[in-house]
Amino acid sequence: MTAESVFTYGAPALKFGSGASDEIGYDLSQYGVRRVLLITDADVAATGHPARVAEQIASYGMEVQVFDDVHIEPTDASLETAIAYANGTGPWDAFVAVGGGSAIDTAKAVNLLHTNPGELMDYINAPVGKARAPQNPLKPFVAVPTTTGTGSESTTICVLDVLAQKVKTGISHPRLRPTLAVVDPALTLSQPSGVTAACGMDILCHALESYTARSYDSYPRKTPEQRVPYCGANPIGDMWSEKAMTLLATAFRQAVHHGDDVGAREQMALAATFAGMGFGNAGVHIPHANAYPIAGRVRDFRPTGYPDDEPMVPHGMAVSLTAPEAFRWTFEASPERHLRAASLLAPDHAYDGPDALPNVLADLMRDIGIPNGIGAVGYGESDVDDLVEGTMKQQRLLATAPREVRPEDVAQILTRSLELW
Ligand SMILES: NC(=O)c1ccc[n+]([C@@H]2O[C@H](COP(=O)([O-])OP(=O)(O)OC[C@H]3O[C@@H](n4cnc5c(N)ncnc54)[C@H](O)[C@@H]3O)[C@@H](O)[C@H]2O)c1
Ligand SMILES: [Zn+2]
Repeated sequence: MTAESVFTYGAPALKFGSGASDEIGYDLSQYGVRRVLLITDADVAATGHPARVAEQIASYGMEVQVFDDVHIEPTDASLETAIAYANGTGPWDAFVAVGGGSAIDTAKAVNLLHTNPGELMDYINAPVGKARAPQNPLKPFVAVPTTTGTGSESTTICVLDVLAQKVKTGISHPRLRPTLAVVDPALTLSQPSGVTAACGMDILCHALESYTARSYDSYPRKTPEQRVPYCGANPIGDMWSEKAMTLLATAFRQAVHHGDDVGAREQMALAATFAGMGFGNAGVHIPHANAYPIAGRVRDFRPTGYPDDEPMVPHGMAVSLTAPEAFRWTFEASPERHLRAASLLAPDHAYDGPDALPNVLADLMRDIGIPNGIGAVGYGESDVDDLVEGTMKQQRLLATAPREVRPEDVAQILTRSLELW
């Protein structure tokens, strides 16, 4: 085998800081656009931020309409509704998303199907969909996150639930990446505490999973056409991940318990952006692979801070529930990275052995009100086989793990995650 010797890095243009969202009209005017569709969800719309951004865009002489019917954690059906709305009211010259990962991912799908032929299913990752690549360029797209979590404003992915198959999957292509990310921490102050906790665990797992991922140079050499946005752990991804963990160490508990602390909100927004830049190029592995069936097969769990019209295990919560046990299992692949992560997250202790990072994670999760394992969101021992089957379908993510992942390994991680402390 010829080993890989190349890694890649991609990121959108970025504007960061309090007040950054007051300049979007000017930013869009630089693209020479006339008709702009702003995409958001009902609860974010209720904060008033989307209307303010829309007004500001209109003040630059552009026509702007607001679509506020984004589904929290988008489904194929909800994306199709948004696409039908955009295509029925278009043509649009540009898109703006104001919201969490749900709004930003919805806008990615809308932009794709507004500019390219075919159906949503054509573009969804194989084997669920046909993994077709877009043939046409997409429209300018400004992503404005209101949560501190997903990093979707800098990534090439749109995550969705395919309802008929009860599976979460995605669309992934470099053209989906927003043109401009506008990260304004002032918009994140109104995040409910439960949302701050789940989204912050998403940041943490993005950083930890990309930091402990299989290294880019351990894969066989790719041809240029075979290159994917996720190339495995690499020096640039490592740098963003380490810095994200340092920020989380001081800001995370404070942002959950004192949501009006502007400094902590700013640090969380930076951490989310940094981790997005890291994992958006390196990739994520076991906790994210497990999160898909944990969220997809939910029965009746309803988290506080989220819409209560249907049961859900929010993305960041679903990811975090198996993280301590996943990192206990990956420890042997790179002990020094696991210990370094533990000391970045909780700097006041000395660390040794495979329990160190799981203990730091469990302490944090308990402090910020994350449920105590997958048992606490409704799963029992008899569900493990079903969940393993769902995880094993996420081969794209499992290929980024630092050890070969067999079904019995996933079963062990899930069983040990029924209760964490
Ligand atoms: N594309 C990517 O790179 C990527 C990465 C990770 C996760 N995701 C996806 O993103 C989605 C989750 O996104 P999320 O965690 O950012 O949350 P979200 O967009 O689902 O929002 C969570 C809840 O918080 C509310 N909310 C958001 N911002 C608020 C604010 N400032 N004030 C008050 N309420 C606010 C929303 O209305 C919603 O009820 C999932 O579908 C997940 O799979 C995508
Ligand atoms: Zn995530």
